[in-house]
Amino acid sequence: GAIINPVDLHHYQALPQALICIDTYGDIAWIEEHVSDALVQDIMARRGLLESDVDFVQLEKSEFLIPGFIDTHTHAPQVPNMGAGQQYELLDWLKYVTFPMEARFKDTNFAKKTYKAVIRRVIDSGTTTCCYYGTLHAEATKALADIIHRYGQRAFVGKCNMNRDAPDDYIESSTEASIAGTHEVIAHIKRLPALPTASPNPNTDVSQLVHPILTPRFAISCTRELLTSLSAIAAGDSSLRIQTHISENVHEIAFTKTLFQECKTYADVYDTHGLLRHNTVLAHAVHLEEEEMEVVKRRGCGISHCPTSNFNLRSGVCKVGELLDRGIKVGLGTDVSGGFSPSILTAIRHASIASKVVSFQPKPEDAHHDHYHNHHNHHQQHQHFADKQLDIPALLHLATLGGAQVCDLDARVGSFAPGKAFDALLVSVSSKAGNPSIWGVEVDDELGIERGMGLSGKGHLERMLEAFMFCGDDRNISRVYVQGRVIGGNEWKRP
Ligand code: GUN
Ligand code: FE
Repeated sequence: GAIINPVDLHHYQALPQALICIDTYGDIAWIEEHVSDALVQDIMARRGLLESDVDFVQLEKSEFLIPGFIDTHTHAPQVPNMGAGQQYELLDWLKYVTFPMEARFKDTNFAKKTYKAVIRRVIDSGTTTCCYYGTLHAEATKALADIIHRYGQRAFVGKCNMNRDAPDDYIESSTEASIAGTHEVIAHIKRLPALPTASPNPNTDVSQLVHPILTPRFAISCTRELLTSLSAIAAGDSSLRIQTHISENVHEIAFTKTLFQECKTYADVYDTHGLLRHNTVLAHAVHLEEEEMEVVKRRGCGISHCPTSNFNLRSGVCKVGELLDRGIKVGLGTDVSGGFSPSILTAIRHASIASKVVSFQPKPEDAHHDHYHNHHNHHQQHQHFADKQLDIPALLHLATLGGAQVCDLDARVGSFAPGKAFDALLVSVSSKAGNPSIWGVEVDDELGIERGMGLSGKGHLERMLEAFMFCGDDRNISRVYVQGRVIGGNEWKRP
């Protein structure tokens, strides 16, 4: 059937009739890009496969496969708060909306019940790899990891570290307690049983889908001592990912600078504590200064672009194009419940709008012509994305491969290639899917016409992709595959 395969920021492959072979480990064995029905038997014979060796699945004309979405930033305990608090900016929103909800996860039974519903919803939204923040509670965060593991999603799960500037009933009593809880959660996640079909390939960590991630909430909520202790844990394991927030809101930035007066910038707080490296995920990055972008690039950190949240909490508009032009890795984040949707499709739409908003702004060179050029010339920046709207290939990349790069998993996921895991969505734009907003691209076999092709000049498959990205929702996600296993989607039934 049809396959959409992201290549880079500028390209994706649209393969109307391809054959993809998944092995018993859930990895992609091979892909034949152009296949007509008659050739399938020949290909199987050439590959040394008998018909009895395989389960053969043929997609409908209104269906296609796309790599699963990667959410590089979300907060599992905030899902119950979605749609609340849009009247606040960040610091008040944390105080009045977010911390009170997160405090409830002290009750591990409440946490288990809530997290089951949360993870089911995130999976069915098409997210196959997710970077989760838990709460500060070790027990609840272990329960979160257990549920993700049981449901079969690929994920990074972190217990929040926060030992200052938080309410009395939602703060860690000491650095020691915070670090002990962190060790406890990391050890718990590493002990989760491997998949029964674990690949024997020693070069990959595929046998484990759920990984720990260090999660200092943000600079404001961590003492120097806590950041130093976390960096010691990080130094002991270079594969351990780190996630935090950076430069989201102007008042947050100003307050951070008063707390860390020895640091010149927000990024400098994390950098001087050794927390910026190739597998650090930095959420928001809306107001980064020039030298902060440089250090982010130099250290190889990834940015989680969270446009829904950035609009909703009135944080600002991230200049993603400029980050991309600098060669900084960027993925998308839903940032629930700063963002009001668990779906990366919503993040895609808001990333598109954010890039259009940036393109409306007067360009710096109009106002400060000489300054701008002196300033930027020595980076020899290739200006491709700055001040332009993100197009479909770029948006698709951010949602898949870009996200995989950000969480240092692009060797495993983010696109279809032999040796990578089969993490995929089976998308249906058929009227049977029940979402009338994209029926227009359905192939009508009886009438022999393809409606909705309009004047776009795009092929049918590309038209289906665009409609899904801008009008689709979970009704159009029939199956969600992680490591070759169906773990959710519309067609999925509870075992
Ligand atoms: N900064 C610190 N904590 C949070 C959070 O929970 N959400 C967002 N959006 N920003 C934060
Ligand atoms: Fe966040």
